[in-house]
Amino acid sequence: TSKITTTKIQAMKGRGQIVSLTAYTKPMAALMDPYVDLIIVGDSTGMVAYGFDSTLPVTLDMMILHGVAVVRGAERACVVIDIPFATYQESKEQAYRNCARVLIETGAQAVKLEGGMELVETVDFLVQRGIPVMAHIGLRPQHANVMGGFKAQARTEQTTELLIKEALAYQHAGAFSLLVEGVFEAAARRVTEAVAIPTIGIGASPACDGQVLVTEDMLGLFTDFTPKFAKQYVNLSSTIAKVFAEFETDVRSGKFPADEHCFGMSANHE
Ligand code: KIV
Ligand code: NA
Repeated sequence: TSKITTTKIQAMKGRGQIVSLTAYTKPMAALMDPYVDLIIVGDSTGMVAYGFDSTLPVTLDMMILHGVAVVRGAERACVVIDIPFATYQESKEQAYRNCARVLIETGAQAVKLEGGMELVETVDFLVQRGIPVMAHIGLRPQHANVMGGFKAQARTEQTTELLIKEALAYQHAGAFSLLVEGVFEAAARRVTEAVAIPTIGIGASPACDGQVLVTEDMLGLFTDFTPKFAKQYVNLSSTIAKVFAEFETDVRSGKFPADEHCFGMSANHE
């Protein structure tokens, strides 16, 4: 199996074929690895796995530990790691220091940064110095407090034009791809047509060059908050709850453990 690089992802522009999911752990990464091109270690882990109300409390150390785990499960897929709130916005030097640390300590191929026009110069600085960047535009959860919550973006002509301007600026700065979250279909289509780098959409219509979902949303493992775009393929939460209830019954009734689960209880077993 040959590793999918950021340049291979970049070359997949225009075919609507880029398949991506999020992962925070090694086993989940290994399960999806044969089927996806891109695994994103999202700071959504703060909400999905830690129970925070937003992604803001996620730290660089948390992202590094999850990144280390995911890289160990991803033989083939390209691994991109989210850089968390307040660890890259202060200056391009701060961004370089922290993004470099993430790539060095995890072995992932690229970082993902949320931004608008204010971050373009930083992305240019990073790419010129060897750090591949996916730029996350549109709905930016790290900006939820400024944007008034999690709301779809680029509804008007004016905001759509701004999104296209941002997309072109990131392309010019050397971003290898764009993550486009929570934007109206017309905006996603116009951005995708305007740039030569691939757009990976989440809640951004089929017009994008690829699609990503938060794995816990698609598996029905995170149900506190379900955005419109989060297609649930299976409800693992209810399956898991049934298994836990069965275990409770087995323990209280003495059905578990049985002879085969014990040492020295039967002539047939060790
Ligand atoms: O944190 C996350 O899961 C994301 C997804 C949109 C990929 O940023
Ligand atoms: Na994220």
